[in-house]
This record gives sequence, C-alpha cells and structure tokens, in this order.
Amino acid sequence: MYDQFNRKINYLRVSVTDRCNLRCVYCMPAEGIKLLSHSDILSYDEIIGIVKVAVKMGVDKVRITGGEPLVRKNVVYLIEKLAGISGIRDLGMTTNGVLLDKFSRPLKEAGLHRVNVSLDTLDERRYHEITRIGQISDVLRGIDAAIKSGLIPVKINCVIKNSPLERDAREVAEFAKKYGLEVRFIRQMSLSGGSFSQVIGGDGGNCSNCNRLRLTANGMIQPCLFNDIKYNVRELGAEKAILEALKNKPECGSENHQGRFYNIGG
Ligand code: 5AD
Ligand code: SF4
Repeated sequence: MYDQFNRKINYLRVSVTDRCNLRCVYCMPAEGIKLLSHSDILSYDEIIGIVKVAVKMGVDKVRITGGEPLVRKNVVYLIEKLAGISGIRDLGMTTNGVLLDKFSRPLKEAGLHRVNVSLDTLDERRYHEITRIGQISDVLRGIDAAIKSGLIPVKINCVIKNSPLERDAREVAEFAKKYGLEVRFIRQMSLSGGSFSQVIGGDGGNCSNCNRLRLTANGMIQPCLFNDIKYNVRELGAEKAILEALKNKPECGSENHQGRFYNIGG
C-alpha cells in the first residue's frame, strides 16, 4: 500500500504492552506511571486479526515492541500465531534483552526471525544508572542466547546523548564488532514537559522514505511517531483504521504531546 506521498508502507510495529521491567531514565518516570488498564489492551486474538488485515493490505514486515514485549504473558503464543501468517517476510522483536536468556529458544521455535536488543553502555554501574533497576549481566546473557538460538542478525539499539563517539557508545560499538553485531545509534529525545520532538539534525528517522505504521497496545493505528493522530481499531475496524492512517500519514512529523515511548514502542 502507498500513502499520499507515494511512500510504500509495508512495515507494522506492534506494541503488545506499555509495561516494562526497566525504568530507563529517558523513557519512563521513576514512579507514578499511568498504565493502560487490562481491558484497554488488545487481546492476542485482536492483534492477530489486525495483523492479518495489515498483511492482506501489503505489510510484509512486522516488529513486536512494548514497553518490554517479553513481560506480556504468553508472548511466545502470539509469535507462533503471527509466524503462521503467510506473507510476513520479516518478523522481529525489539527487547531490552533482560529476559532473552530464558525466551530466545522458545521464541525461535515459535518462528520469530530476529531481535533488536537495547544496550546503551557496557559499564555495569552506568547500565544500572540508566535503567534504574537493570543488571547488565542479564542482557549480555540474553544477547548470547539470542545468537546461539539463531535469532539473527541480532542488532543493538544504543541510545546516545550527543555523539556515537562518546565513551558509552564507543564501548558498545566495540562490543558489537567483537560479536559481529550491527549497532544503531539513536539520539536521545527529550520527553520533558510531557512531550517530545524530533531532534533537529538528529537521526530521528528519515521521513521521505518512512515505510511504517504503528499499532499501539490499546488498539490505535498511529501513522507517525512524531504526530498525535491515531485511529481506533476497535471503533473503525482494522481496515478502515489502516486506510485512514495511510491517508493521513504526515509528510514529516514534528511533535507528539501524548505518546510516550513505552506505550507506542519507540
Ligand atoms: N530517546 C530515544 N530513544 C528512546 N527510546 C526510548 N526512549 C527514548 C528516548 N527518549 C528507544 C530506544 C530504546 C527503545 C526501547 O526505545 O531505542 O532502545
Ligand atoms: Fe523499558 Fe525500553 Fe523504556 Fe527502557 S527504553 S524503560 S527498556 S521500554
């Protein structure tokens, strides 16, 4: 499917939960997070139905995100069902990696193709500082398990403050090189004041060849991370919500006043 700027839209990012087992300083407040209530969260059957419609309409790349997708109960079941939809050529997951040691094998067996793992530093103390509760050893074990299980290519998402040359980033790059992993540096975006904007001159995505739509955990199709517009799948039905999002996908996004990364999945 094509949007009104003739961009081919074939990529759907699916957030399965707004919950997370970490509290990264740039993503979540330490406490007092307003979480979606259980009844607002799409069931797995609803998600599967929506993805099937999206695939019929031309999506062939699906990424499962969160929050942290591995904290949602039975996520392996969802992967198994999604992997069974013919027409998906690339089925990936973005995870903080903390639970990957346990989940890599079952995920691979369920049909997941690959994972992107968030890792901003290799320093144990810094990792704990950034994530507020995380233990880096869990992630390193998780990455190892993902490689051994064949969830490849494993890619590393590394949030940087200013430059890929800063110390944490260089160490992550070195680690990735050693294990033959690809790193993508993502410039930290400010969430202060309840909004975040695309960092001008940053690598906040390339609007002119953006190929994605998002499905939020509570059933909104969102055409752009940097724009508030969204279409409710439960109200409109999947096809209509996707068509509306397609028709109204902005040429280039600027701001988002409501979303947080943990409920729209980066
Ligand atoms: N700036 C940039 N990226 C962010 N993420 C979450 N919060 C931010 C932010 N403020 C992204 C990171 C992380 C993923 C889960 O979400 O890429 O690895
Ligand atoms: Fe969790 Fe990812 Fe947000 Fe960190 S950045 S709190 S791992 S959702």
